[in-house]
Amino acid sequence: MCGIFGFVGKRTDAAVMAVEGLKSLEYRGYDSWGVAWKEGDHLSHKKEIGKISGVDGHSLCDVSSLAIGHTRWATHGGVTRENAHPQFNEDKTIAVVHNGIFENYQQLRSELRTKGHTFTSDTDTEVAPHLIEEYLKETGDFAHAVRLACKRFTGRYAILAVHAASETLVAARTGSPLIIGVGEGGYFIASDTPAFQAHTRTVQYLDDGEMVITNGKNILFSDIETGGERTKREIEIPVSEAPSDKGDFAHFMLKEIMDQKESIARAVNQSEQEIETIAEAIRNAKGTFLVGCGTAGKACMAAEYFFSVVAEHHVNFAPASEFKLYHHFLKKESLLIVVSQSGETADVLEAMQVAKSKGAKVLSIVNVKGSSIDRASDYTLCINAGPERAVASTKALTGQLAVLLLIAYALVGRLKEGKKLLLETASMINDMLNPRYVERLTQLADRIKRHENLYIIGKSWNYPMALESAIKIQEVSYIHAEGFAGGELKHGPIALIEDGTPCIVLAGRDEVMPDILSNAVQLRARGALIIGVSPEPNEIFDEWIRVPDAASAQAIVNIIPIQVLAYFLAVQRGKDPDMPRNLAKSVTVK
Ligand code: M6R
Repeated sequence: MCGIFGFVGKRTDAAVMAVEGLKSLEYRGYDSWGVAWKEGDHLSHKKEIGKISGVDGHSLCDVSSLAIGHTRWATHGGVTRENAHPQFNEDKTIAVVHNGIFENYQQLRSELRTKGHTFTSDTDTEVAPHLIEEYLKETGDFAHAVRLACKRFTGRYAILAVHAASETLVAARTGSPLIIGVGEGGYFIASDTPAFQAHTRTVQYLDDGEMVITNGKNILFSDIETGGERTKREIEIPVSEAPSDKGDFAHFMLKEIMDQKESIARAVNQSEQEIETIAEAIRNAKGTFLVGCGTAGKACMAAEYFFSVVAEHHVNFAPASEFKLYHHFLKKESLLIVVSQSGETADVLEAMQVAKSKGAKVLSIVNVKGSSIDRASDYTLCINAGPERAVASTKALTGQLAVLLLIAYALVGRLKEGKKLLLETASMINDMLNPRYVERLTQLADRIKRHENLYIIGKSWNYPMALESAIKIQEVSYIHAEGFAGGELKHGPIALIEDGTPCIVLAGRDEVMPDILSNAVQLRARGALIIGVSPEPNEIFDEWIRVPDAASAQAIVNIIPIQVLAYFLAVQRGKDPDMPRNLAKSVTVK
């Protein structure tokens, strides 16, 4: 979702670095971009719809020491140049870039209109420069004016503000991430570290309710509410894989699917002590809740089955966006387990706040150390999948599933057994993902790519994987795909089946196999083309995608061919699987 970049210091290539910084945030998903820089005593800017990848920052400005930039994912107002950030006040002396949502922007707009302000965009963001201008008239101090404006905003947001007559960069956050990069020639401020990793790995984290003021030489952290000074530690972040490195693969999505040959084993090879500690916390909790969004949510839903089947332990799954409605069930002895690849998902952060307000403990399973969710948790487990850049989550999901299954085994004193099973599964996946297998899935994609509807069924842990299969196919190929619990078909969805409708059946060699096969028979009787994903063939399958028999880890192996299939459906339909329309990698708004 939206990306923020800012720099102030003694270097004169601030605008060039802003363009490059925004390029390294492209993976978050966006539809327009903009940069504002200080040139002499005024602010210049450039805003465009579409991609920044082909832009040369030198064409903007080579002589600026202060710049802010933004990639926008539209929320309030369509994808237009006017709605792109930075947003300005009327005389363009104040520029603001913004992530998140000012929930009270309508009220602020009407208040500012009565004071004579006019607005040129449909964004909530535009109130910020106008409001700052009002407070600047009152106080004569830009940073103070930003603080007073921030005190008026409701909702989750992060902003960067600059003024034509000032050499300072002012930033504030409540709910959306901002990280400061401490560079040799000045300070960077960005929504994610790849934006400045080419220049520094020394960071300082801005926390919720805090603001920062810097002129490139000095930096001051303070509390938005009180103005009181805050102190910050400098932290060295590890050298991560180059964000733009997709090796020989045509797309990040395919690379990340193939990364699963190693990433699952990395997720499993956790400290056993840590897994035991988590299992103990679940054992002692009076009610364990699992929340996540989208794909991570499907991992949580699968974990309900892991905990039930492997550990006979009741846990409750809720999509993070629904969790606050569960607050009556929470007490201080409850445990909330949140699962998130990015560690920045707004709905998850809100769920955490709900749990914390009841005194409950929060355990997070993330892929990004240092993310907002990691830092706001009582305890964090990292799945160690490595950077995931494609919008479609693939290797993060299997890492999450592996860790959750491992915890279920640990809960009943069978950690070693669970670990052995998962490492064997990882090795079978390594064998499975061979060129012949991939070619087979390419051919299957070719057979079904012209269909506009596709259904997937599963039972037990394969039911959440059916839902996940649908997400994967929808988001990259734009085919209308839906997942169902096999047993639900006869209660309605079967009416959708026509002659030749492709239906994927996710099966395992387990006690529910006869049930799911009988659901497949029902589909076949209505003319469906049955694609079985199963360790064994069956006469009901028109197409059989063989997967290893992985017992209670079957969900992990079954989802992988669907990821590959979704990828080839996208490519063969001429879509870019890494940058699906309307979607963002980090969903930092509610
Ligand atoms: O970063 P998170 O795991 O919290 O993200 C949650 C969802 O937004 C994410 O899984 C989304 O559903 C993916 N695009 C699915 O591939």
